[in-house]
Amino acid sequence: METTGRVAVITGGASGIGRGIARAFAGEGMKLMLADMDETMLATTAAELTEQGIEVATQRCDVSKLEDVEALAAATVARFGAVHVLCNNAGIGIPTATHNIRLEDWRWIIDVDLWGPIYGVKAFLPLMEAQGEGHINTTASLAGLIGGSYMGAYNVAKHGAVALMTTLERDLRGRKSPVHASVLCPGPINTDISRHSVTYRPSKAKPGATSAADGRAAANVQGLLDKGMDPDEVGRLVLDGIQRDTFWLLTHPSFTKVLTRQLDALMADGSLTKA
Ligand code: NAI
Repeated sequence: METTGRVAVITGGASGIGRGIARAFAGEGMKLMLADMDETMLATTAAELTEQGIEVATQRCDVSKLEDVEALAAATVARFGAVHVLCNNAGIGIPTATHNIRLEDWRWIIDVDLWGPIYGVKAFLPLMEAQGEGHINTTASLAGLIGGSYMGAYNVAKHGAVALMTTLERDLRGRKSPVHASVLCPGPINTDISRHSVTYRPSKAKPGATSAADGRAAANVQGLLDKGMDPDEVGRLVLDGIQRDTFWLLTHPSFTKVLTRQLDALMADGSLTKA
């Protein structure tokens, strides 16, 4: 779809991938509504973009609360008169072995990473359809395609986010809707997601408090992310995908070989991963 001059809402837009998307959209002269829990980071990101002459608004929003997401949609229309692009990007995750995940963490991760995008679709899709144009992108993860170890709650939420978007896109095409959907499945990206997640975690338990192995897993994940892709590159990929109406947006396509191996094992002998 045409993006120049259009209005975009980005949740989790204050930092990391969301900020990368905001920078890419700003390069197209889009008008931006950035939503996040962290108002200090929001103000810093908005100031950077405003200096470039971009029209930017910000809103404190907890995507796990329907009333916050509905208020975000209303504030966007009140400020800009329309909304053309929604990026359901806010997310968190804590690596923990499945048997150690507290129920409180299961609920929090699924509330933010899955209910957040569900609320986004619920609040924004009717506005876009009435307007006759729109695109909804959700940031899932490779964890939405591959159920790797130590990320049980995150994998469940992200598989749900992928299923939400594949089904949404099929339903939209089935009824010739003017709105398109897409899903971003990043591999490792250099952001502060682990540190932010520890801050927001409702139980406030530090990784490592559950078990030494879980603590090591958390350190390994952050070490991998520190060497990951620049989030600005991911932002440009999302912009390009929206412009071309591409459904699957992958930052590390070669990582999907695991999916092929999994399917081969399923067909060969029903094992999870064929030896
Ligand atoms: P980040 O921590 O830099 O950005 C996430 C933003 O979401 C933060 O600004 C945070 O304040 C905000 N946030 C957290 N909980 C929120 C809530 N309940 N409501 C509203 N805002 C909230 O992390 P990153 O990496 O940029 O994460 C963005 C998305 O990318 C997430 O959905 C994450 O799961 C996904 N992702 C990240 C990968 C990575 O390697 N960094 C890989 C695959 C997916």
